[in-house]
Amino acid sequence: MTAATQFRTRISGTGSYLPEKVLSNTDLEKLVDTNHDWIVERTGIKNRHIAAPDQVTTDLALIASQRALEAANLKAEDLDCIIFCTVSPDRIMPSAACTLQTKLGARHIMAFDLSAACSGFVYGLTVADQFIRTGFYKHVLVIGAEILNRLVNYKDRETCILFGDAAGAAICSRAEAGQDSAILSATAGADGSLGELFVLPAGGSAMPFSKEVLDNDLQYVRMKGREIFKNAVRTMTSGCQSALEATGLTIDQVDWLIPHQANIRIMDAVASSFGIPVEKVVINVHETGNTSAATVPVAFDEAIRDGRIKRGQNVLLTAFGAGLTTGTVMLRY
Ligand code: UT7
Repeated sequence: MTAATQFRTRISGTGSYLPEKVLSNTDLEKLVDTNHDWIVERTGIKNRHIAAPDQVTTDLALIASQRALEAANLKAEDLDCIIFCTVSPDRIMPSAACTLQTKLGARHIMAFDLSAACSGFVYGLTVADQFIRTGFYKHVLVIGAEILNRLVNYKDRETCILFGDAAGAAICSRAEAGQDSAILSATAGADGSLGELFVLPAGGSAMPFSKEVLDNDLQYVRMKGREIFKNAVRTMTSGCQSALEATGLTIDQVDWLIPHQANIRIMDAVASSFGIPVEKVVINVHETGNTSAATVPVAFDEAIRDGRIKRGQNVLLTAFGAGLTTGTVMLRY
């Protein structure tokens, strides 16, 4: 969707953080019946980062947010809103956004969590863009941060090999005169009828915690990987095509594609069916694994900091996740 608007949204700064501890495929071989070659061939993943036992999700987010503020040359007091995209908040209540507001030393601004799993950050950018376009807010902090290792069963080889912990942040600011940056289009969607493909059974009102939950490992995620794979390729490809239609850009004018980093084969399939060369796809899944809402902002930040993404370039962000959700944003950085 594109909208006539008074103001444009500029990404004024990004930041990211990966915890120090690295869990390799060889480490996982000691926990479950798997092997390095299978994991690399089927997923592209070699390592994932794991939060220290005393770190919570907002600790990861705090570092990413401080780096984003520094890059934007802003202070926490300048923020007007915090959108915290996560499915692994410190606690269900209070929200991670409220905890982060205090840790950051931000004013008593609007702060809320957004739950769209791996599409979270792209959903968050879409929401932030509305606040900026209307003139309601000037600086919105959007974070994707997860500690998934605490939701994963290290006895289930189909899931435990995939996930890692990370945080990425971007500050959406009102573009000033002379600044060419903008969020050019955004599409987002959900198909709840496919929700059972990727679930965290316990901890909500449907299944409060109990001894039975713990006895049956229902506090951990369950996934039907193959079905999700097909849906991911289809929805991300169609999101990218819709972005071209909405903006009038040609595929050659897309400088970078940043897909959700779930599996190298999913990214290759999206690049191929969308028709973009793989050299234009930002990929870091081999070192991070799938960090849900954090994958897109972490890859975005890394590519900005190492000089691949430059001001004025067109960047396409696309994601899919539990829900099932999907979202795509085209922006001029
Ligand atoms: O952010 C959204 C989160 N979810 C996803 O992104 C998941 C998307 N899906 C995927 O990434 C892939 O479907 C997986 C990586 C999860 C699985 O890859 P696959 O190529 O779809 O494998 P498969 O499920 O078809 O399994 C193939 C074989 C099976 O053995 P049999 O039945 O052929 O004998 C599995 O039991 O591989 C076996 N297998 C493993 N072998 C070694 C499954 N997991 C493993 C493992 N190590 N970790």
